[in-house]
Amino acid sequence: MNIALQTHQTMQIIDGKSTAQTVLDEVKAEVLDLKQQGIEPCLAVVLVGNDPASHVYVRNKVEKAGYVGIRSLEFRLSADTSQNTLLAQIDALNADTTVHGILVQLPLPKHIDENSVLERINPKKDVDGFHSENVGGLSQGRDVLTPCTPTGCIRLLKDTLGPDLSGLNAVVVGRSNIVGKPMAALLLKENCTVTIVHSKTRNIQAICKQADIVVAAVGCPQMLDGAYLNENSIVIDVGINRIQVDGKNKLVGDVDFDAVVGKVKAITPVPGGVGPMTIAYLMKNTIAAAHQQIQSSR
Ligand code: GUN
Repeated sequence: MNIALQTHQTMQIIDGKSTAQTVLDEVKAEVLDLKQQGIEPCLAVVLVGNDPASHVYVRNKVEKAGYVGIRSLEFRLSADTSQNTLLAQIDALNADTTVHGILVQLPLPKHIDENSVLERINPKKDVDGFHSENVGGLSQGRDVLTPCTPTGCIRLLKDTLGPDLSGLNAVVVGRSNIVGKPMAALLLKENCTVTIVHSKTRNIQAICKQADIVVAAVGCPQMLDGAYLNENSIVIDVGINRIQVDGKNKLVGDVDFDAVVGKVKAITPVPGGVGPMTIAYLMKNTIAAAHQQIQSSR
């Protein structure tokens, strides 16, 4: 047998779709358990404006909530909604004790200050983990609600490598508040040695190439090729980029999958890798939020 074939056989394509299904089934059982205690978990999703991708994401979130048995409330507000109207909507959801999770879909229209909106959500209902109290809690290693996409990535890493990630060298490419920074914090909590690289970093390729784990979250289509990876790299591709190939729309990640498949230890595909995990962990966070609120009301 030739070496290329052997290498390919030991390479793993990390199946996010099937892991997400496992997570959703775990959540389904937890929902049943809550319902037996007389509590119906409920997620409120707020969407402002007409961004087509956001509409698709919100539809998927509501559909998955239905699948696991979480009640969902959808609030669709027009693009010219004032910041005060949106804040009043959040206040009403904060005050509603039957609502356990609140998600405001991003991006928001330009006239609304994103930070003011995210800070208005009760941290105990903040299923996105974007409130500064939760961001600070994660940075201190406390058990708080954490952002869905990076939390889903940690699950994929543990399913691939085993539960102990201690001592592994992890490089996060990108420093966004939604993925890069919380990903780094979660990897640190797992005792990884963590490096964040970004647009101003020198020698990105060399830094990535020596890592055990590379998490790509930059939003640059197919940026990472073989020069960034080695035969033992575990690659988590968070990118979702729409590009045109031969006049057709194609969804690709931040990693050039075709160029590196067979040359790394394991990799998530796009689509079917990280994407489904985000929604699955939103459902998990909604249940965690419900548990937190039940405990604090006792
Ligand atoms: N827009 C893109 N990703 C996300 C996310 O994880 N949460 C919210 N609320 N909006 C997003």
